[in-house]
Amino acid sequence: MPEPRDASVAATPDGGVPAGTNPRTGGQALSRVVFDEAVIARRVAEMGKEIGAAYAEGANLLVLGLLKGSFIFLADLVRQIPRPLHVDFLVASSYGARTVTSGEVRLLYDPEATIEGRHVILVEDIIDSGTTLNRLVPLLRERGPASLELCALLHKRIAEDLVLEPRWVGFDAPREFLVGYGLDHGEDFRHLPYIASL
Ligand code: IMP
Ligand code: MG
Repeated sequence: MPEPRDASVAATPDGGVPAGTNPRTGGQALSRVVFDEAVIARRVAEMGKEIGAAYAEGANLLVLGLLKGSFIFLADLVRQIPRPLHVDFLVASSYGARTVTSGEVRLLYDPEATIEGRHVILVEDIIDSGTTLNRLVPLLRERGPASLELCALLHKRIAEDLVLEPRWVGFDAPREFLVGYGLDHGEDFRHLPYIASL
């Protein structure tokens, strides 16, 4: 059966959404759809299987979503991992309404789940400068996980000095500001079912 398509993504010659016709954005035009729903769903299903295959049977798996950006990706991803696992979240401070990083990352919510002795997968929406991960990885390592891996839906391949390379990456992303499927600009656009360039 074909994947359901978002009717608001009208097919235009450039694959973009025409100005003034997208009810989800209140009519604001997005420059183009970069990854549509079907492409995302296929890749997330593959990633779930790869992650499931990477751990020994009985491994104590904790999938940690970095809020808010990862919430849709994480929800779809865990449903594609065919093994027992627990889910928790952490919240780091964000860019706010800006489109560039301030370089400062603060932890606003600490996961309740025990990290010590568990196989932890930190799930991130997008790796841009790498600042967020470079601050969070040492913090999580201090808590003694049995292993720590990164899973990112998108990677801009800008960061050169990541303290830990992501083991799973959904897509290499263009170096543009992306929104949708959890990613926001000033809290707008998280609910778009596809990923678009602003
Ligand atoms: P980094 O610390 O520069 O790697 O940025 C990571 C965080 O910045 C991501 O988790 C996102 O919340 C946000 N971010 C980076 N690039 C984008 C983008 O293109 N669109 C929306 N959010 C982004
Ligand atoms: Mg984020």
